[in-house]
Amino acid sequence: MIKQSEFEQPMKKANIYLIGSIAAMAGLLFGFDTGVISGAQEFLFKTFEVGGASIRGFVVSAVPLGALMGAIVSGFFAKELGRRKSIIMTAILFSIGTLSAAFAPSLLSVVIGRLLMGLAIGISAMVVPMYLSEVSPARVRGTIIFLFQLAITLGLMGAFAINLTFASWIQDTATNWRWMFGIGIVPSVLLFLGMVFIMPNSPRWLMLKGRKEEARKVLQYLLGKVDVSSCMDEMEESLRHEGDKNWKLLFRKPLLPLILMTFGLFVFQQLSGINAIMYYGPEVFASAGFGEKAKFLAQLFMGLTNVIATVFGVWVIDKLGRRPLLFIGFTGMVICLGVLSFCLGSNGAYATLSLASTLLYVVFFAISLGGVPYIMMSEVFPLKSRSTGMAIASCANWLFNMLVSFSFVILVDKMGGMENVFMLYGICTIVGLVFAWRYVPETKGRHLEDIEHNLYDGKALRYIGNSLEDKELKKSVAAFALEKEKEQKVV
Ligand code: BGC
Repeated sequence: MIKQSEFEQPMKKANIYLIGSIAAMAGLLFGFDTGVISGAQEFLFKTFEVGGASIRGFVVSAVPLGALMGAIVSGFFAKELGRRKSIIMTAILFSIGTLSAAFAPSLLSVVIGRLLMGLAIGISAMVVPMYLSEVSPARVRGTIIFLFQLAITLGLMGAFAINLTFASWIQDTATNWRWMFGIGIVPSVLLFLGMVFIMPNSPRWLMLKGRKEEARKVLQYLLGKVDVSSCMDEMEESLRHEGDKNWKLLFRKPLLPLILMTFGLFVFQQLSGINAIMYYGPEVFASAGFGEKAKFLAQLFMGLTNVIATVFGVWVIDKLGRRPLLFIGFTGMVICLGVLSFCLGSNGAYATLSLASTLLYVVFFAISLGGVPYIMMSEVFPLKSRSTGMAIASCANWLFNMLVSFSFVILVDKMGGMENVFMLYGICTIVGLVFAWRYVPETKGRHLEDIEHNLYDGKALRYIGNSLEDKELKKSVAAFALEKEKEQKVV
């Protein structure tokens, strides 16, 4: 067990993968709590004799609703309470929410529990990637933040496995949904204990709060024997920029393009229709021609594919980079959505092909749009505006998550079948590809402070992750200088 005072031993080096895995436990809860309701709802509604579609809808959407509220307040907590304490707070919220849902005497208690879980998810889905980006060395930063996405997929797969088990074998409606929710207490407690006893504060947050000596010690602990003074200087330098106290700055260059880019990535992540597949998987498979049990099996298989492909993403993100993975992912998803749409429109004639295209779609999503938006939002914002910028991007995640999961059933009805809805997701994904091509920078291997430096130097958004030697960057610097010159002439 590591005590906070042990960070004072400068020669000891932290195990960054252990830190990544503990913080990512919040991702496991994210995946689990969003996925388990698809199996639990049937039993839950039987127990409390719920018939009305609107009450059902409210119970199901309590988590994304809570998460949206969590995303809104996440910036405040990350900044004022700190990254580490905010994650500890979410572990407590996860535990209370889980217990309130598992031991619920009434439906209201389930809803309150699910809202609390959602709140914890919304806060942690922003603070955990932020924390991970701030404690990781640049060389492996993408890999470490991608662990958060891996944990989400593991949580989803766990939920699908539990859904299948309870749907097939344990059908005691009075108690089974309690167990389904209750299992979430294990990762909640692990997250709490790990954060309290093993994890250091973020050195960047300590700097932000003027606790320079503590920041130096933690940095030394994270990086081992290397000289941390240049890193300290860079962090100090980044504190000179104006922060998010001045709201107007967020709506001006250079912050506005960052906000639009990270917000947009989450919009396209959700508009790709991933959660139509994750949350309504069994229905999609049934409409493609699968039987009662086979549809749950297919969903579990899809969850497993998601995990395996994400492991691949974790492995290659710092080797290939963010942009190449996005292009491969977007292109593959567009093709798979086209094939899936064709299969769904063929009255169950191509059940195997529809499963294959769904699985491949999940693979392409997992290596690209799954992790990259979380990585990007954690990397591009300057330290002083990071909390607010990331909170705004996270709101897009939950707003559009709700939009897609709410509208799916309605759209299927209004657009005359699932095939047309998946075609619509395909079209949105084509727009996403163009968006990524034009605006997303490559940040592989760059120090957060270098990215910030490029940003304040006036580099175009696409190039803020490049090194000064890069040809494109030189071009963009020249263009910027020219623009400035013109401005001065006008004045
Ligand atoms: C998304 C979730 C989605 C999950 C699937 C995450 O990146 O934010 O909405 O359910 O990926 O793996």
